[in-house]
Amino acid sequence: MLSLSNKQVILGVTGGIAAYKSAELCRQLIKANVEVRVVMTPSATEFVTPLTFQALSGNRVHTELLDEEVEAAMGHIELARWADLILVAPASANFIARLAQGRAEDLLSTLCLATDALIAVAPAMNQGMWHNEGTQKNLKLVEEKGITVLGPALGEQACGDVGLGRMLEPHEIVSQAADLFETGELSGVNVTITAGPTREAIDPVRYISNRSSGKMGYALARAAMEAGANVVLISGPVALEPPPRVKVVSVENARQMLDASQESQGDIFISVAAVADYRPEKPEDNKIKKNHDSMDLRLVKNPDILATLSLSNNRPFCVGFAAETENIEEYACKKLKEKNLDLIFANNATATINSESAQLTAYWDGGQGTFAENTKGALARDMISLIANHYRQNAGH
Ligand code: C5P
Repeated sequence: MLSLSNKQVILGVTGGIAAYKSAELCRQLIKANVEVRVVMTPSATEFVTPLTFQALSGNRVHTELLDEEVEAAMGHIELARWADLILVAPASANFIARLAQGRAEDLLSTLCLATDALIAVAPAMNQGMWHNEGTQKNLKLVEEKGITVLGPALGEQACGDVGLGRMLEPHEIVSQAADLFETGELSGVNVTITAGPTREAIDPVRYISNRSSGKMGYALARAAMEAGANVVLISGPVALEPPPRVKVVSVENARQMLDASQESQGDIFISVAAVADYRPEKPEDNKIKKNHDSMDLRLVKNPDILATLSLSNNRPFCVGFAAETENIEEYACKKLKEKNLDLIFANNATATINSESAQLTAYWDGGQGTFAENTKGALARDMISLIANHYRQNAGH
């Protein structure tokens, strides 16, 4: 089972008695380290109050399409873009009909139209309504749109009937929703990713480093894991929780990162780390004293980890990054050639480093593709898809 940790989920609640179970679902999502925003249809608020969900999620609950105050905090299009997943539980027969028709008369159905995120619905209704021909036709239409239907379960219903139509239990919804992120695009492929900065010692207590947070590399490691890859994440010092089921090798400086990269190598090598280009030639054994008005620090060049791997025999499929502050395309294409890369992702260094979101362009021999501004998690999934496509097309793979 995959985990939903760090995912951004819109929990959609529609009008049905099972709405009371969504409060528990919301709690379990939060416990699974999910960032939850709750959107309720007007009829859902007849069953459970928005205040319940506000208290559980820690965020204002969205109920109206045209609510000036809430829109000012996060507009509905922004909310649609923010989500990794829209999870509608319970999904009433009426809501499923609205989804099937692509209607946008309430906030939740509007978000479902506007989003690129995954959408899953957990139906909850009386067994007669579930079996109704209209409902079944609507469900088929909904599935044709790529929306996943979770459940329903068989059993005793709130109205006293017994049959199909009960909403799945919250823990089943959490686990099935997590599995939606498994794509299988890199099933069984060994992927090595470097991430974060390196630290180059000046003396035992001081070092040269940079502002890289490691967020992009860690997001790619998670996305590659979700795509079924065996991931080794070679990480410089960062303050991030590594994704589950990823082997982490912690290093400090560029030469350690090179050793670990050569040892692990893999089928695909993704070099996200902001490796220090230079290191102090001779780190002092003892702390340097401030006895002089000025001091010189002689630096020598670090090995280029990515170029070393991509120019070696039996080279992996190599993906690099170009974080530039000017002439982005020109420098990226130059690096693609000079470092003998299969793919390079270029971006504006000042806008991306340490930020939650990014905007990228990918270049390869004879082509390019643009990734619009998005969270690093959502971008990483699209980037891994592109990498997987090119890896498969590449002769010999
Ligand atoms: O040449 P430049 O440092 O701009 O290239 C960036 C790309 O090369 C990134 O993918 C980075 O991870 C990698 N790199 C490396 N070793 C270095 C410097 C950069 O692997 N010493």
